[in-house]
Amino acid sequence: MGQHDGKQKFPGSLNSAMIDGPKGAAAQEYANNFGAPGYGDVERIYITQRYEGYSAENQESWRTLYDRQMTYLGAHASSVYLTGARSIRLVRDHIPHLDGPESINLYLKKLTGWQSRGVPGYLPAKAFFACLARREFPTTVVIRPKESLDYLPEPDVFHDIFGHVPLHADPTFADFLQTYGRAAATTNDSVHIERLARLFWFTVEFGLIREDGEVKLYGSGLISSPGESRHALDSDQVDRRPFDLETVCATHFEIDHYQPILYVLESFDQLRDAMNSYAQTILNETARTGHLV
Ligand SMILES: [Fe+2]
Repeated sequence: MGQHDGKQKFPGSLNSAMIDGPKGAAAQEYANNFGAPGYGDVERIYITQRYEGYSAENQESWRTLYDRQMTYLGAHASSVYLTGARSIRLVRDHIPHLDGPESINLYLKKLTGWQSRGVPGYLPAKAFFACLARREFPTTVVIRPKESLDYLPEPDVFHDIFGHVPLHADPTFADFLQTYGRAAATTNDSVHIERLARLFWFTVEFGLIREDGEVKLYGSGLISSPGESRHALDSDQVDRRPFDLETVCATHFEIDHYQPILYVLESFDQLRDAMNSYAQTILNETARTGHLV
């Protein structure tokens, strides 16, 4: 899941058997209204991952996607990502379980207290932020169809779990993401909302980090995309800038092509500290103006 702002649904692009039906529709409807009077219970946004709904072809798609990326990532992903993937027992054999004895959530719980929770589709920003503020990651449970392995205009279980969740096993990143969610859920200021969307985009989705002198991948949009990951590291068309919160928050982005500008962290401490400081600014302003949700 992410802030791709894809309010549009692409009919038929996902195997919808797992999310259609009254429960999925009710959860989506609740999420769409989240924040309005009577719509403040985050639990009602979530759905169960009906694991038996995955077909043999779905499982094959997971293995294909995993194989195409994991070997490459071994040399090019942040060590924090790779350690996290091992810690939550991310495997090639099958789509990860969110519940039960094999759940990635059992490991996450012990490491950082984060949890991945199934959602029926895109969440509006307010609902998304409310989940993050609870250390819960809204996770799309369906997987892209075999015909669309290379490109999908919306998140799926591969993007969300393979791309995002391993970082949630890292205490520093875990704290950063919750602070982000709290700050974003608190403010109604459209300037802050836009700045926070940019911050999310250039870190959580498309972030790079320097480790032992080498630039590595950690953003989920890079981690989960064979094309964009290689472009991010190798292309001379990419402007790789040092991370600076104010600069990032002032940088416009477009979603429908490979990213021409990326920001490189020196450490996840740098990201957490910058976010703590920005969150404090937002909280102080909110306290002054009384714009609490
Ligand atoms: Fe995402």
